[in-house]
Amino acid sequence: MSSPEHPSSARAAFDPDQYDPETLAVRAGIERSQFGEHSEALYLTSSFVFNNAAEAAARFSGVTPGNVYARFTNPTVTMMQDRLAALEGAEACVATSSGMSAILSMVMALLKSGDHIIASRSIFGSTQQLFANYFEKFGISTTLVDATDIAAYRAAVRPTTRLFFIETPSNPLTEVIDIAAVAGVAHDAGALLAVDNCFCSPALQKPLELGADIIIHSATKYLDGQGRVLGGAVCGRKAEMDEVLRFLRTAGPTLSPFNAWIILKGLETLSIRMEAQSARALELARWLEKQAWVDRVFYPGLESHPQHAIAMRQQSSGAAVVAFEVKGGRDEAWKLIDSTRMLSITANLGDTKTTITHPATTTHGRISQEARDASGIRDSLIRLAIGLESVADMQRDLSRWLAV
Ligand SMILES: Cc1ncc(COP(=O)(O)O)c(C=O)c1O
Repeated sequence: MSSPEHPSSARAAFDPDQYDPETLAVRAGIERSQFGEHSEALYLTSSFVFNNAAEAAARFSGVTPGNVYARFTNPTVTMMQDRLAALEGAEACVATSSGMSAILSMVMALLKSGDHIIASRSIFGSTQQLFANYFEKFGISTTLVDATDIAAYRAAVRPTTRLFFIETPSNPLTEVIDIAAVAGVAHDAGALLAVDNCFCSPALQKPLELGADIIIHSATKYLDGQGRVLGGAVCGRKAEMDEVLRFLRTAGPTLSPFNAWIILKGLETLSIRMEAQSARALELARWLEKQAWVDRVFYPGLESHPQHAIAMRQQSSGAAVVAFEVKGGRDEAWKLIDSTRMLSITANLGDTKTTITHPATTTHGRISQEARDASGIRDSLIRLAIGLESVADMQRDLSRWLAV
């Protein structure tokens, strides 16, 4: 590799501190080869060669920086990490094979047996399982608290509390948690705050600016944005990200260069996608509120949302997930879903294609009825992850069941 931006010219290197987020999304992190390619290169190589044994030894030991082996270094993955770090305003980013392996890597790197986690009750179902079934097995316990009850976070603190973990807005009920308030409680307890920023992405919300220490991403969602690949990331201070990278180097839940390249190119359109998908979500949420067959709509951009004011303070829009309760129960919810022709019946979100999900029997089907009741996930609940189709077509699809 030669110098970052323009190998054979005297132009100054790209300095991320000088540019706006839209610019960072398309230009941050570029590392050009000697060929001077304009689009970012995809380096499909598992290992790297050295000129001699001394150079190999220096690279392996970290005395000289550079690529060694793709379990922990690959130029395409590095470009994606640097671009995401620039967008989140983080010192460093470590990419992982999925969102779940980002959470796993963070906890394995930064916590130890005997430590305690406080997490919001409404975190993603697999995250709950990871905490309850696996971390618990290795002596790391978790207390779940009501997502929006700041006093409950404070009351749950133990001398061994090392990590607070929240997801805002939450899935699927779009509860919004005051990040700055939870960061205050975490720091008073001498603990770190990790925020799963999957629903908003850095285009709409910057948790580090609000006091969080670590950001988790399922890059599978809006960062890719077109439902193509799995990926994840942990962002934060360099010291802590070095620990996460050490875990990756040892254990290997690494992002493939191909997936990194897809996500890197996905980041280029992130802000315009988030803006367009949020605008459609708001329009559809307002329409749903007016339908006689809808009991309740959950969308942070609506004035009726219980945490609307916090959402408008810490997010630049309501994001693109809308949930609603249909009048009736599971039968009505399934009838509505089964009557659609265009919307994709799938559990994923963050795609340009709108998806429709019945959380109680899919994403949250593995948690107990009691846990579902405690989280307010009723059988009548439907989640929409709004994409880029026309709102009129979405409305038509959601109304078909009335004629069946
Ligand atoms: C909020 C949230 N965090 C984490 C994950 C896990 O991400 P992945 O599927 O990439 O492992 C998901 C997946 O749906 C999610 O919705």
